[in-house]
Amino acid sequence: MNNKIIENINKLKEQNNTVILVHNYQNPEIQDIADIIGDSLDLAMKATKTNAKNIVFCGVDFMAESAKILNPDKNVIIPDIDAKCPMIQMIKPYQLKLLMKKNPDAEVVSYINTTAEIKALSDICCTSSNGVNVVKSRSSDKIIFVPDRNLGAYIQRSILDKELILWPGICPTHHKIHKDQLLKIKELHPQAEILVHPECRPDIIDIADYTLSTNGMVNHAKKSDKKEFIIGTEKDLCYRLKRENPEKEFYEIKTAICPNMKKITLEKVLNSLKSLEPKITLDEDLMKRAKIPLQKMMTIGRGD
Ligand code: 13P
Ligand code: SF4
Repeated sequence: MNNKIIENINKLKEQNNTVILVHNYQNPEIQDIADIIGDSLDLAMKATKTNAKNIVFCGVDFMAESAKILNPDKNVIIPDIDAKCPMIQMIKPYQLKLLMKKNPDAEVVSYINTTAEIKALSDICCTSSNGVNVVKSRSSDKIIFVPDRNLGAYIQRSILDKELILWPGICPTHHKIHKDQLLKIKELHPQAEILVHPECRPDIIDIADYTLSTNGMVNHAKKSDKKEFIIGTEKDLCYRLKRENPEKEFYEIKTAICPNMKKITLEKVLNSLKSLEPKITLDEDLMKRAKIPLQKMMTIGRGD
């Protein structure tokens, strides 16, 4: 069944000049059909480099929207319009405007996990890969950082000469990872290195060997002499890690599942390739304003 769907996906994407971009948290069978697989920063950058007319984005809303904002002339299609990251709804434009009014001398850095409206109000965006470098690049010593308080607190650890004003947003998937889950695996595999995502709680960052974006983990695992890793992020990153490093062991947190990412299925990808729907549509003026902080972010590059 899947073989037939995959055959049709491959045929259709050739026929209608489409590239399939896939985030590292996607279901394994979606990872297997990727033209490009990566993290938020990597996919945003590669979306600007493709010559394809259509981008089928297997990820969540803010990722597909960022690809559209950066490529307004392309069709950006998300196979399930309900694949939405809950974090992006945790700050509303009026709340950010109030914060800005209260702190007129602060610059606004927003995580890419935001709506286009929040991006449009920001001086610059960042991802989990370049958050520290983006904040360092700002001239102001006061930064409003929205919406992920865990990522903000992680950035604050390595930047002592700026004050970060944090917002109480979180990622439900990362925030519910518990330190004991990692420590239990460590007890069974004492040689394993602990790699965690900066969306995790601070007490998890405390016990980690490295705090990295998802592509940061992929790059680290490839280069490292270590043979075993405990992966503190969405569990299906381990599928990519194992595929690219078959001689190494990766221990996943079984409960760390992003239900929004899992909404994308092979059948929905095939339907999107047939209909070129559902397309991401955003107001043109909004896209112009949101593009500026995204483009600024891309000049900073990766930090891990
Ligand atoms: P990455 O950019 O590190 O892949 O993170 C995206 C994300 O949504 C993490 O939950
Ligand atoms: Fe959003 Fe968390 Fe899912 Fe990432 S893992 S897309 S931050 S809900």
